[in-house]
Amino acid sequence: MQTIVITGATSGIGYEAAAQLAEQGHRVVLVGRDQSRTHAAAARLQQRCGIADGSAQAPTYALADFSSLASVRALATELLERLPRIDVLVNNAGGVNSQRRLTIDGYEATFAVNHLAPFLLTALLRDRITAGGSARIVTTASAAHHKGTMELDDLGSENGYSIMAAYGRSKLANIMFTRSLARRLEGTEVTANCLHPGTVRTHIWSGAPWFARPVLAVAKLRMDSVPKGAGKITYLATSPEVAEVSGEYFDDNQVRYPSRSAQDDELGERLWNVSEQLVGLR
Ligand SMILES: NC(=O)c1ccc[n+]([C@@H]2O[C@H](COP(=O)([O-])OP(=O)(O)OC[C@H]3O[C@@H](n4cnc5c(N)ncnc54)[C@H](OP(=O)(O)O)[C@@H]3O)[C@@H](O)[C@H]2O)c1
Repeated sequence: MQTIVITGATSGIGYEAAAQLAEQGHRVVLVGRDQSRTHAAAARLQQRCGIADGSAQAPTYALADFSSLASVRALATELLERLPRIDVLVNNAGGVNSQRRLTIDGYEATFAVNHLAPFLLTALLRDRITAGGSARIVTTASAAHHKGTMELDDLGSENGYSIMAAYGRSKLANIMFTRSLARRLEGTEVTANCLHPGTVRTHIWSGAPWFARPVLAVAKLRMDSVPKGAGKITYLATSPEVAEVSGEYFDDNQVRYPSRSAQDDELGERLWNVSEQLVGLR
């Protein structure tokens, strides 16, 4: 039985992946931002998987709002206190913002929630993850990264904001982060990979602007099911087929080339350094 921490576990592919991993017999720690939603998700999962109260496998949960770096730090402190080992960290929480908005730390919210928060959380948990020997770090990126650019001098989108440009940049950052992290993990038994889950029928689409909603309502009929999308997280989290693979971007459980920008490892290193500064690790 592995201990698996999964963020964005209250709904969508995060919740479903947590349930699939619990069904495999693992102990999952669901991370959410809202107490009642996260508690309800853990209870629903426990019932669905038929896990007895008080059993070692019983799911637990922890809270953090990823639009606050202080909240991410508090989450890491709590997880380090509670978990003697972490076998898998799934960085999955994320979303879109139709309007530009700043977090409490003064950063553009999409970039902060989708990239800076998992960047900081992973950094704070990294020693615990590597200390356990074999482990995995999985990050939910997106094919939307193809639309993203990485202007390090305008990470806050001050020179113009669009929902997809901000989202694409944040997902591009997820892939660059994974590649840079994998290089830093070389020589350990910890892998870092990321994935596109497909175009999946989840709540994320409710963040789209009003004018896109009629088109989306039709498009949703053809989107992948949540279990199918979640299965791609589950695959990277536990499949023996990818135990030795690190630093890759997966789509449909296959290694794929991400965009040319995502493969620019020199730019990826610069993003890493800037991210360290932005989250206060330097
Ligand atoms: N659906 C797709 O087609 C698709 C495609 C490519 C990539 N993705 C990626 O898949 C991941 C999961 O998205 P989803 O499609 O499953 O959407 P979802 O159903 O909206 O789930 C998003 C999860 O992230 C959490 N979250 C959002 N903002 C947060 C914040 N500030 N702090 C803490 N948690 C926060 C949400 O919590 P609440 O319940 O509190 O809102 C929820 O648990 C995201 O990273 C997304 O970018 C999705």
